[in-house]
Amino acid sequence: MTLNLIETLPESSIYLPTQSRILEVQPLTKLEKLFTIELPGGIALGHKPGQFVEVSLLGVGEAPISISSSPSRSNGSFELCIRRAGDLTSVLHRMTSGETIGIRGPFGRGFPFERFRGKDMLFAPGGLGLAPLRSLINQVMDERGNFGRVIILYGARHPSELLFTNELAEWQARDDIELHLTVDRADDNWKGNVGVITTLFPKVDIHPRNTVAVTIGPPIMYRFVLMELLGKGIPEGNIWLSLERRMKCGVGKCGHCQINHLYTCQSGPSFSYAEIKHLAEAL
Ligand code: FES
Repeated sequence: MTLNLIETLPESSIYLPTQSRILEVQPLTKLEKLFTIELPGGIALGHKPGQFVEVSLLGVGEAPISISSSPSRSNGSFELCIRRAGDLTSVLHRMTSGETIGIRGPFGRGFPFERFRGKDMLFAPGGLGLAPLRSLINQVMDERGNFGRVIILYGARHPSELLFTNELAEWQARDDIELHLTVDRADDNWKGNVGVITTLFPKVDIHPRNTVAVTIGPPIMYRFVLMELLGKGIPEGNIWLSLERRMKCGVGKCGHCQINHLYTCQSGPSFSYAEIKHLAEAL
């Protein structure tokens, strides 16, 4: 197979799903599987960390899914971490390599990676939030020399719900990543921190003016994590999060994702806190 990393999807793909091949399906937890997807001819998806695609199955439906792989590791394919949570995702979870799914995208505004260079990076994913953040984390790690400290504070409800445990072990073994894990409820084998993600923040000292913080997790987490980040003195414009709720069409047509004047599918889903702090409904 010849890879063409210049060519990307045509403009028409904002409306028409491109039939794409599942290369691999790996179970991550009881509820999440990692799908490796190849576009026709191995063309590049051309995404940025923080963007999403619309995944569809004829006769079943369509849903927005965050892209979990880093563009720096595209190799002619991309990865989606999909939680089984409804009709479409249940059918997807029964699919195997070689089968095809529809892909539209990538859509949305990714994180402003160029603006992050030179900064200390503090990542605070909660639960499934590690799936989209992994794309950004791995892009930072592939340019490790261009960043200061890399701190990851990751919380899940239970050890069995931690995602990408192989990668977590690799990150833990590196001396250029400060990884802190926590679970709400431990099991007999868990030796680490127990408590919600905010219990990890006192464990790290940061230089707030030179730190960019990126948090992705369930909406209920944001209010508490934002309080911690603001309390540490990180400027509002350096705190980033992702608002992925209620998206449907992905391209600014249906209005489902609208919060006040913003279509989160187009203006986001990545926002700085400074951009959305006035949207009480968003947080
Ligand atoms: S998802 Fe339809 S307008 Fe944003």
